[in-house]
Amino acid sequence: MLGAPMYRPPERIKHAPPDGGWPTADQARDARWFQPIALGPAMLEHRTWIPAMVPWRATDAGFTTPDVIAWYRRFAEGRPGAIVVEATGIRDVPSGPLLRIGHDRFLPGLRELEAAVREGSDGHTRLFIQLIDFLSIRRRPVAQTFFRRHLVIMDHHRAAVPSASTDDEVREGLLGLDDARIEDVLAPRELESLRMGMRERVTDTDAEHIRRLPETLPSLFADAAVRAREAGFDGVELHYAHAYTMASFLSRKNDRTDGYGGSPAARVRLPLEVYRAVRDAVGGDIAVGCRFLSEEGIDGGSTLGDACEYGVAFAKAGMDFVSLSRGGKFEDAQPPKVGAAAYPYTGPSGHECMPTVLSDAKGPFGRNVECARAIREAIHGAGHATPVVVTGGICSFAQAEAILAAQSADIVGAARQSLADPDWFRKIALGRGAEVRRCKFTNYCEALDQHHKQVTCQLWDREATDAPDVMLASDGRRRLVAPKWS
Ligand SMILES: Cc1cc2nc3c(=O)[nH]c(=O)nc-3n(C[C@H](O)[C@H](O)[C@H](O)COP(=O)(O)O)c2cc1C
Ligand code: SF4
Repeated sequence: MLGAPMYRPPERIKHAPPDGGWPTADQARDARWFQPIALGPAMLEHRTWIPAMVPWRATDAGFTTPDVIAWYRRFAEGRPGAIVVEATGIRDVPSGPLLRIGHDRFLPGLRELEAAVREGSDGHTRLFIQLIDFLSIRRRPVAQTFFRRHLVIMDHHRAAVPSASTDDEVREGLLGLDDARIEDVLAPRELESLRMGMRERVTDTDAEHIRRLPETLPSLFADAAVRAREAGFDGVELHYAHAYTMASFLSRKNDRTDGYGGSPAARVRLPLEVYRAVRDAVGGDIAVGCRFLSEEGIDGGSTLGDACEYGVAFAKAGMDFVSLSRGGKFEDAQPPKVGAAAYPYTGPSGHECMPTVLSDAKGPFGRNVECARAIREAIHGAGHATPVVVTGGICSFAQAEAILAAQSADIVGAARQSLADPDWFRKIALGRGAEVRRCKFTNYCEALDQHHKQVTCQLWDREATDAPDVMLASDGRRRLVAPKWS
């Protein structure tokens, strides 16, 4: 495998999944988690939520496949209040097997997906789609390729190889230096390109396409949202989280000097302009919200204070919901192996985003709840009631009820627990919570994601793989959706 190992906090404390018992069907009916809530025009039957998860099942051209449809239909059968379809690219450019919405040709597949969820949930689940923009990231190069082809030779390189008389000789000379010397000679950004692969940033304003992002992005997001409405989605979630373009505008590391970086007000400016463009395009027909970070979890990154400010700004602008994640940044990712691309969930901030059972004293369960509470309080304190979605290590009924009772959030999401058992919401609602297959939080699924392999769960992907109607992954060994529950 080419990928980097996931980060484990040095404490390596093993945490047991929280319990707290399961309700009877009557208790579930009265429970906070199973009460309705309106997200603008979208009425959720329950406050249960499956956040975006990329399953790497689209075609290389970004179209839906029967595997994509099966993934969402299977989640729909558990009848969550809402499902958010994976991060979906808004541009009409090749982006590997990532779902795309950047052209009308993607509409038939997306309509089919929407119909499958409607049918699978018997109309009980509302469907959102996460809209993403990202900048280019290259694979980690072999040193020869980097020095001979990619590196732009400048005076500080020439000074390091005084015997060289041509730039080609400088390149060969640099190639012969040992690691310690290379660290001295290369500028930090050059060293990063060598060890991590070249990665564009929103602050690279000398490149025209990056300088012009504030001009180009609002209409790209707006056009994608219009397509989502045409495909029948109930709402869109603007992806302002993790390692991607919009999160990078929100980041404290964004020091653009064109009015779109520096102060918190300038950093949130483009996310607000994108939102306004989307809202102008779709009006009140579908829900519009965003996912952003309650903390970036990297040195010099945005803090909870920033997130409170952003949450209030999004609420004031009229968003129908905000969904909170944390971490998931490139800045602290592990260096990938040569030939692989850096993955933003391999460093400490990755652990913040998708913590595992081997964690620190705080543990993986409900790691984002305290921050969600502060952000929700800030939003309410500013006179808004915008629903807040929290996710991160939530895998029991008791946790969800406690979060809602404490008014830390209005909607409680679960990604990996829903993958481990797509029927778990329905089992709880029917008073059959004891039958829930519980996530182990060891991130087998996440490792598949890192390698862009079709995502499945270790708890069911080897079960009855020879059954007649079973869909198998391309390795021929794993079933693609969880077996039926009856
Ligand atoms: C396989 C996989 C793919 C993911 N893809 C996305 C994504 O497309 N967009 C996103 O915002 N978060 C993504 N996430 C993060 C989840 O939405 C969620 O925030 C995270 O897993 C923590 O929640 P959990 O503890 O309930 O799993 C992904 C997580 C997993 C496991
Ligand atoms: S693969 Fe592991 S971490 Fe992922 S959903 Fe299944 S049990 Fe949970």
